[in-house]
Amino acid sequence: MYYPEELVEEIRMKNDIVDVISGYVRLQRKGGSHFGLCPFHNEKSPSFSVSQSKQMYYCFGCGAGGNVFTFLMEYEHYTFQEAIKVLAERAGVALPEIEYSAEMKQKESRRARLLEANKEAAKYFYYLLRRQEGAQGMRYLQKRQLSGETMKKFGLGYASKYSDDLTKYLKSKGYEDELIKEAGLCTIDEKHGAHDKFWNRVMFPIQDMNHRVIGFGGRVMGDGTPKYLNSPETPVFDKSRNLYGLNFARTSRSGNMILCEGYMDVIAMHQAGFTQAVASLGTAFTEGQAALIRRYTTNVLLSYDSDGAGVKAALRAIGILKESGLTGKVIHLEPYKDPDEFIKNLGAEEFQKRIDQAENSFFFELRILERDYDLKDPESKTKFHQEIARRLCGFSEEVERENYIEAAAERYHIGFENLRRLVGSYAAKTGLAKEIIRPKSGIQKKSTPEEGAKKAQRLLITWLSEVPGLYEKVKKYLSPHDFTDELYRRAAEMLFEELESGSGSPAAIVSRFEEEEQQKEVAALFHTRLPVQREDKKECEKAFHDILVSVKTYSYEYYSARMGSDIDALSKVIEGKKALQELKNTHISLD
Ligand code: UTP
Ligand code: MN
Repeated sequence: MYYPEELVEEIRMKNDIVDVISGYVRLQRKGGSHFGLCPFHNEKSPSFSVSQSKQMYYCFGCGAGGNVFTFLMEYEHYTFQEAIKVLAERAGVALPEIEYSAEMKQKESRRARLLEANKEAAKYFYYLLRRQEGAQGMRYLQKRQLSGETMKKFGLGYASKYSDDLTKYLKSKGYEDELIKEAGLCTIDEKHGAHDKFWNRVMFPIQDMNHRVIGFGGRVMGDGTPKYLNSPETPVFDKSRNLYGLNFARTSRSGNMILCEGYMDVIAMHQAGFTQAVASLGTAFTEGQAALIRRYTTNVLLSYDSDGAGVKAALRAIGILKESGLTGKVIHLEPYKDPDEFIKNLGAEEFQKRIDQAENSFFFELRILERDYDLKDPESKTKFHQEIARRLCGFSEEVERENYIEAAAERYHIGFENLRRLVGSYAAKTGLAKEIIRPKSGIQKKSTPEEGAKKAQRLLITWLSEVPGLYEKVKKYLSPHDFTDELYRRAAEMLFEELESGSGSPAAIVSRFEEEEQQKEVAALFHTRLPVQREDKKECEKAFHDILVSVKTYSYEYYSARMGSDIDALSKVIEGKKALQELKNTHISLD
């Protein structure tokens, strides 16, 4: 952080969050909060809340949240510095000239230079494609039925036949060899000097969410290998945290996203009107990419190639989607290989039908699995049914599990009761369901002890920040290290410090975290839904007591397990045991 904390706080306090957000979202007062439709994901009923007292916002649907700075960073894609500037101006606060540290300056300007070099390269490729030199590239793209408008939207370009053309050009613009190399645009060898990474290819610039060019994919115009060359990872190009097409898909508001395998698939889909299509970047789909998607929707449609490799990739992606709390469905493209070919042959309307008929990912998995069994052989068939039962145990929510048992029984002609018993016996053997997945909620919910503990920790933080005076009553039982997650612990430390001094403003705590993702998580900490109705005092007190005990118990177990490796663990364990014993016999009143 480059501005003094007091100044950041002053600016925050002078910009009422309800006023600021009202400029973007229609808010309605409901109880102590203001509610509206979340601007960060597609929804029909308002789950986006803005709290005047906390000076924070939080979406119960997608988990977006933070203070007034975070809001502008997320909504306007401002950096923290930019958000500060805008809000300082809005409130009439004068900002001092900032003193960047030399290192910070260098790092920032290096990233900025890399982005500039990429942009310059994209502009150059774009220009070449539309000149005589690029005629072959243009013919190729036209043959693939891309319109001029589509080529423009995706900034398609052409890298010339000469293998040092781009490097020469960038050097003439003042970029040094080293930087061009760091941007992944050339390689340098001792004998021949700099050598373009891409030549004689049609070029697909890869943009981040904010339309900044961060890398390239280049395709041969024909059958050569490799078919695509991609920029390497660079300080501005993180392949696991970006998606091709997301800069457009994020505003498509179609209520879902379509995940494809290739650049050409995304482009063909957008051209056909499916502007919610995205693809990974020449590498397998990652958790980071799932997290990106989750900001916008929980419904993901997989539109992978229909060949063996595509099916394998789809199965992998389904697993990742599930872990991230997203629902996946599979679009069938048969008899075509990929969405690009499908649309070329059957058109957008037929593709929409395939979207509507997309297959539930659980049944997709079973269908693929079925191929490994011989259903005419009783033994093999039994094994298959057992495997179905085993997988059904994965649904730890009862209603959902029952529904799936019913559907699977019907589909595979197994007696419902038989299948149910089989599931029951598996569950008894292995312990039900490693994790709970609630696709509809959109928020990742796991029932591992760790997740349970983290949930209790979040509840406790929310509770302590909401009920004045509560901290005083429990502080002797509690310490920041009871929050076993690093981020939670930092937040708890800050909260306790604030509560000690009698303030305790969650919004101030948020700005002390640097990263947007961290700010979001911290906001979530202060916005858990407390489990009981506030009116019933006895139940409320019991719930609070339970949460406190469960946080202490987990912390006790956590440090007990670490006694060998952590020298401080022993004292934490002893302290934890004592607190737990005391808590057992203590009534904590919430008055
Ligand atoms: P595909 O081979 O399915 O390509 O690879 P595509 O997108 O359908 O392209 P066309 O239609 O043949 O032109 C899917 C994705 O895998 C990566 C690229 O990201 C590509 O879009 N890939 C593929 C590579 O990175 N290198 C390769 O050599 C091939
Ligand atoms: Mn293709």
